[in-house]
Amino acid sequence: MKLLVTGVAGFIGSNFVYHLLETDPGARLVGLDKLTYAGNYENLEALPAEARERFRFVKGDINDRALVERLFSEHAFDGVVNFAAESHVDRAIEDSQIFLETNVLGTQNLLDAARRHGAGTGVRFLQISTDEVYGELGPSGMFTEETPLAPRNPYSASKAAADHLALAFHHTYGMPVLITRCSNNYGPYQFPEKLIPLMIRNALRHEPLPVYGDGKHVRDWLYVRDHCRAVEMVLRSGTPGRVYNVGGNNERENLFVVRKLLSVLRERTGDPEIGEGLIRHIEDRPGHDRRYAIDATRIRTELGWEPETPFEVGIERTIDWYLAHRDWTERVVSGEYLRFYEQNYSGR
Ligand code: NAD
Ligand code: DAU
Repeated sequence: MKLLVTGVAGFIGSNFVYHLLETDPGARLVGLDKLTYAGNYENLEALPAEARERFRFVKGDINDRALVERLFSEHAFDGVVNFAAESHVDRAIEDSQIFLETNVLGTQNLLDAARRHGAGTGVRFLQISTDEVYGELGPSGMFTEETPLAPRNPYSASKAAADHLALAFHHTYGMPVLITRCSNNYGPYQFPEKLIPLMIRNALRHEPLPVYGDGKHVRDWLYVRDHCRAVEMVLRSGTPGRVYNVGGNNERENLFVVRKLLSVLRERTGDPEIGEGLIRHIEDRPGHDRRYAIDATRIRTELGWEPETPFEVGIERTIDWYLAHRDWTERVVSGEYLRFYEQNYSGR
């Protein structure tokens, strides 16, 4: 299997590269990434030498028509997995322009190239989407693949637009397009602007833990490698034109997650200053979706996928990784990130 995988030096993309090269000795990957603030080539440095021979990294933009065309001409790809995106909701609230450029126009550029190079022969195109495209839920119910799209923030609106476009390419040109819509991931290599790594970093530094609003917003947390297995299964065996929801059946309130992080961190470090006294409720995120929950029946029954990592295990594994990689965290927390942090959190 020869794949073009975009967004490989970000959180989920880099985990997917490790997953696929570890589990499929025949896999060959070309990884395309612009290395924005969220992309870090260091994320791929632990690839063993043997895997490295089957992986080629290309620094570039999914919007670059000439580059994408060249990659498709040089390599006979069997498939494309598009992880590349602007992915942080709070940044999209600050300024959504780049979200539209990358998430919508970038996806269109990749779809166009896949169409030129394999509509007839079937370059499978997997668009990595999100449960956020469905909007928010009340206290009960779950998103199924039939739930109408109702995104409520500029990030999720851009992802929903890309989903519509990808499915339109399937219906219009017969391209074998697939979509996964996953819930919140956590695990190694997640940029410390997202809830879990941000709280871990702040707690270790005895800095306030900024919980938006009442902290009772619910997310369904899935360990990143379980998501990667789902992506591989859909790519190999999913039905073209179909959407597959992916979720952990693991709905937790944000405050529960933060308290869990604090208790494991205190236990691991023995540091008595790591405690709930660090929690600060701050002004809520504008348009903050209250609850997400995923019905993953389709991927379970059609493809046999199950989440394998219980939350308790995944959280401990994640915390141990961040404790062992404190230098990684400090290196990715660049000047640009510090500017964003100051703007997002000051005065709230
Ligand atoms: P991330 O922000 O960690 O990584 C995104 C990567 O895309 C970065 O390496 C960045 O450099 C790259 N990128 C951005 N713009 C690019 C461009 N124009 N050209 C090439 N590369 C570009 O994001 P993530 O959390 O790993 O998310 C990956 C995908 O999964 C996204 O599409 C996101 O919408 C989706 N998703 C994420 C989650 C989650 O919980 N993190 C859940 C469901 C779906
Ligand atoms: O649901 C899938 C989505 O999950 C992905 O599509 C996005 O790319 C990914 O970023 C994530 O979006 P969220 O907005 O759910 O993730 P985030 O980690 O930013 O926030 C998780 C919850 O925690 C959310 O309810 C907001 C809250 N939060 C977040 C931050 C950063 C806080 O209370 N305080 C914070 O400082």
